[in-house]
Amino acid sequence: MRLWGGRFSEANDRRVAGFTSSIELDQALATDDLTGSIAHVRGLGRAGLLDADAVATLIGGLEALRAEVEAGTLTWDAELEDVHLNLEAALADRIGPLAGRLHTGRSRNDQVATDLRLWLRRTIDTLDGALVGFERALVDLAAREGEAILPGTTHIQPAQPVLFAHHLLAYVEMLERDRGRFADTRRRANVSPLGSGALAGAGYRLDREATAADLGFDGVTANSLDAVSDRDFVVEFLAAASLTMIHLSRLAEEITWWSNPRFGFVRVADAFSTGSSMMPNKKNPDPAELVRGRAGRVVGSLTGMLAVLKGLPLAYQRDLQEDKAPLFETAATLEASLGIMAGLMATLAIDRHRMRTAAEEGFTTATAVADALVRRDVPFRVAHHVVAGLVAAAEAAGVGLDALPDATIVAALAAGGDPGAVAIAADPGIGDELRAAASIEAAIASCDVIGGTAPRRVAEALAAARARLDPGA
Ligand code: ARG
Repeated sequence: MRLWGGRFSEANDRRVAGFTSSIELDQALATDDLTGSIAHVRGLGRAGLLDADAVATLIGGLEALRAEVEAGTLTWDAELEDVHLNLEAALADRIGPLAGRLHTGRSRNDQVATDLRLWLRRTIDTLDGALVGFERALVDLAAREGEAILPGTTHIQPAQPVLFAHHLLAYVEMLERDRGRFADTRRRANVSPLGSGALAGAGYRLDREATAADLGFDGVTANSLDAVSDRDFVVEFLAAASLTMIHLSRLAEEITWWSNPRFGFVRVADAFSTGSSMMPNKKNPDPAELVRGRAGRVVGSLTGMLAVLKGLPLAYQRDLQEDKAPLFETAATLEASLGIMAGLMATLAIDRHRMRTAAEEGFTTATAVADALVRRDVPFRVAHHVVAGLVAAAEAAGVGLDALPDATIVAALAAGGDPGAVAIAADPGIGDELRAAASIEAAIASCDVIGGTAPRRVAEALAAARARLDPGA
């Protein structure tokens, strides 16, 4: 007979046990379940529902089960449905009928909610380490390739040159926000549902706050119905994970382009590449592609979980059991993806020459030249027109903006009839001044605002990123 089968006169259909069992997945909660049970037993002792001997025996039995779980020697039985009933049955097997007192004042509904919160808390802590590790790889690469210059693009077209380090630090910003979102999720999740019972609250005067403190929770849930049916924290985690995966995916996408020989900006190490079964020439960035692909699956987990929750009345419904697959899969995917991307970035070889040459294509310093005219008091809109004329002339002549002859520059300045531009055209030094402004280095240095790509700003950002990652250093 099933543990809950007292009122049943017929056995379940043979298909039901397998269909309703969650042990395949929720065995991952085993140590958290034991941690929760031990705290609950202490609470029962404090409430006078168990004497000191019973508390000691139950805790001893639960600790012994923890050792079995950690050693991988405990066997799971799908007939016993889930991790909670498996562990209770194993406890009864080890210590006898006293195990029957464990579930006093508790339901699997508040139990699983507790387990999940404990699991999520430690998983977020692990993931935070992985996020930091990946950020370090980015920061180290930014420091190592501090002088590399990348063609910054918008619309995938050449736009303005930027320091490669600046580009990498953009991802560090995203990841810092990701860390904040996980920390936020952790903070809201870190309250104890224990004592909520099945839905109405335990029928004993349990000191919920003491048990919560015992488990390292910051407090207790305030409403028993909410406590057993709330999975907002799962959704929050999946949403935070989705954003992180999207950030990884965007970088992975850039890696696939940059490593294409047409670009040749980077070489992905053999250690993070794979080959083709047919084409001997191939070296593919498959790990990066799979990070990109798995981002799609994580987003699917988020939308799947939202769909599970959408129509559920209060309080606990069995549908909630479906939270485990998306939650566990997402955490594993995220941790693995962070490790892959950290390794890939740490071993990435940069071809500064190819990057820089590409940064010179497409007249990427045109904005800097217009800005130089504005510094000479030409209205920006006039400057934009003048430089557009210079770009057209340079394109026709097949040269860069920094190689245009004086005559072309003077003609472009005079063409629009703006009195200020016409006056500047007469200045004999204007050709040299604008050609200097058109150099890649000058263009980069000119973006000298907080958050800009000027080398000194990037150096500051790099130092700030390092300080955030290693607050003690
Ligand atoms: N395996 C269940 C879950 O993960 C545990 C709670 C089951 N509660 C119940 N009353 N059937 O949600």
